[in-house]
Amino acid sequence: MADSFSLNDALSGSGNPNPQGWPAAWGNQPAGAGGYPGAPYPGAYPGQAPPGAYPGQAPPGAYPGQAPPGAYPGQVPPGAYPGPTAPAYPAPTAPGAHPGQPSGPGVYPPPGQPSAPGAYPAAGPFGVPAGPLTVPYDLPLPGGVMPRMLITILGTVKPNANRLALDFKRGNDVAFHFNPRFNEDNKRVIVCNTKLENLWGKEERQSTFPFESGKPFKIQVLVESDHFKVAVNDAHLLQYNHRMKNLHEISKLGISGDIDLTSASHTMI
Ligand code: GAL
Repeated sequence: MADSFSLNDALSGSGNPNPQGWPAAWGNQPAGAGGYPGAPYPGAYPGQAPPGAYPGQAPPGAYPGQAPPGAYPGQVPPGAYPGPTAPAYPAPTAPGAHPGQPSGPGVYPPPGQPSAPGAYPAAGPFGVPAGPLTVPYDLPLPGGVMPRMLITILGTVKPNANRLALDFKRGNDVAFHFNPRFNEDNKRVIVCNTKLENLWGKEERQSTFPFESGKPFKIQVLVESDHFKVAVNDAHLLQYNHRMKNLHEISKLGISGDIDLTSASHTMI
């Protein structure tokens, strides 16, 4: 039940119907009888789709300055659900800071963005840039990754997309390559792999394919002690066991491919 849900439950993955242990604030949690305040319909789970809609779609106008309102599946208004153990949105570390970026004066905007004065999109609510980010985009992960780190990427797949990729990097090595391919021999497949000293290892392939050309998406990557755990649009997708063990050296996330990128951030849960 949502009322008694704890962070420990979230991380251990105990209980159904959330066997993968996604935290309450990110959907797929059971609701109490009759749902929860603001439930789109009785008995709904946070993040669950009302018929014919994206999961947890936000009400229009819920996010002033965020474009477009309610565009991302699984987006929920802050504070919509009782008793989550993790905040629904990462709190900025400094006024105007971008979650996932180092805080303090002079460090925003993130590296890899245009440097001309006025080139930066206005910060939306929670300090997240409201406008598109340049792709390819590098999200710094200061201090590397660690268990309980949650990385969230919001974007929209371009029409007629061929590929997109997330690359968790240690220097030139890629600890975790997450690569949805929209047309590999007329099939859609997600390829995951690790690259060490310029050599790709053995691919792990997944045919469940939640992305659609032209549509918005949310990717969440939760770092756990043994694996990266990936959810798309609030539904668990896959796990990838750590092949590169020194997690603290994985200090950058590259985001590339045929997408418009709205935001990329990280927080601890
Ligand atoms: C290669 C491809 C790389 C990467 C790799 C994963 O064929 O060129 O970009 O996706 O597969 O195994």
